[in-house]
Amino acid sequence: MTYGVHTSDIENLINRLFSSIILEQRKYNSIKPADSNRRQIQNDILDIFKKNRGIGLYYDYISTGRGHGPFTELVDGSVKYDLIGSMGINILGHSHPLVIRSHLETATCDTTISGNLLPHSNQAVLTKRLLETVTKSRLKHFWFAGSGSFANDLALKLLWQKSAPRRRIIAFEKAFAGRSIASQNITWNTSYREDMPSLIDVDFIPHFDQSNPDKAVSKTLRALDKLYKQHSDEYCALIIELVQGEAGFVFGTKEYYRKIFEWARQRNIFIWIDEIQTVTRTHELFAFQMFELDDYVDVVTIGKTLQCCGVFYTSELNPKPGLIGGTFAAPIVSLNLAHKMLEYFQKGNFHGPEGRVVELEKIFLKKIEHLSGGTCSGKISYFGGIGTMISFEIGDSSEKTTWKFLSQLFNNGIIAFSAGKNPTRVRFLLPLSLTKTHIDEIFTIIEKTINQVI
Ligand SMILES: Cc1ncc(COP(=O)(O)O)c(C=O)c1O
Repeated sequence: MTYGVHTSDIENLINRLFSSIILEQRKYNSIKPADSNRRQIQNDILDIFKKNRGIGLYYDYISTGRGHGPFTELVDGSVKYDLIGSMGINILGHSHPLVIRSHLETATCDTTISGNLLPHSNQAVLTKRLLETVTKSRLKHFWFAGSGSFANDLALKLLWQKSAPRRRIIAFEKAFAGRSIASQNITWNTSYREDMPSLIDVDFIPHFDQSNPDKAVSKTLRALDKLYKQHSDEYCALIIELVQGEAGFVFGTKEYYRKIFEWARQRNIFIWIDEIQTVTRTHELFAFQMFELDDYVDVVTIGKTLQCCGVFYTSELNPKPGLIGGTFAAPIVSLNLAHKMLEYFQKGNFHGPEGRVVELEKIFLKKIEHLSGGTCSGKISYFGGIGTMISFEIGDSSEKTTWKFLSQLFNNGIIAFSAGKNPTRVRFLLPLSLTKTHIDEIFTIIEKTINQVI
């Protein structure tokens, strides 16, 4: 089946454009300081943008749309390592051939966005392809949503409808589920929902205690039992991030998750996994697959790296007509790219014990360990993470010190982000396009920055 318009002329032009674009983008292949004459242009854009938005930005960053692999160019002419990928979206890195190809192919079709009323064929094709990635589970359906937060809202509606009149949700301390009117209630950090009415009854329990792993299961189960005594017939679902992003990549063990999920299942509480940040980033395509929890999942929400957001759910949770809908499913270029990415991940050596994701994790953790035992001794208070999600703590692990480090790191050519409060961690959401040369340079910069700041 072809999609969009195709003639040999169009194919030739696409191929020529593809090569020309990639050759131009590949020029952005090393870090570079700002140009003095372009700095003012960026400052002017930022001043107006900040005024128009009303709220500032974490970094003085405006992209030119140019960059290659881990490199991104700013309007001020500087080129930096992007180790956060716009909060985790760009796992392939910048101007990846699949990204360019998806754009060019999509330019041959007639609209920009596939809608739920009159879907494009690639919406149907991607839905099928996504479901093929979860065949070991009971997940049988997938529905697109406009953002990760809206995917969680959609999940909540399915769960509520099936469980009515049970409404109560169990979530985890330090969770992040988004900022929509519903999902903000599940997000642990109350400063993100200041003055908002509390619209959903959500009870928080401790996640895996990294400082006391032997007691982690009993601690969580005790909290669950205590809640259940108070609200036994009110709970409909338990939502969990198997690797908690905002907490700085806190995760448990297969046994830990199994015990909690058994507890929930025995009480007819649905199990809802938020994989919005984790999908594609752990040792398997999904974190629930890495922890071998396929049997347990009732709902899985995804977003970020897959370029579109949405919800997988079991047949049992298929809603009544009219409950879910919405004009947009996803931009056509995102549908096209997501499909190509799934094929790329399946055919390439990315997931599994010998895959690139595991390899990157090992390299990063080893290098941080080396710094913390050597030239940065006493200055790195923690390091950890899993897959392409790596974190560490600097000095006293306070928000202030962490942001002092992150700002200096930015000036020195690397963009990263923070995670959590008390402690606050430095967070990397790594692209897969990093080479050994890049990683060596990144660690030279990290070492220099730690010693500048602490
Ligand atoms: C685990 C998790 N859930 C939900 C969301 C919300 O996704 P979005 O920002 O696309 O609404 C995020 C975003 O960071 C997330 O990390």
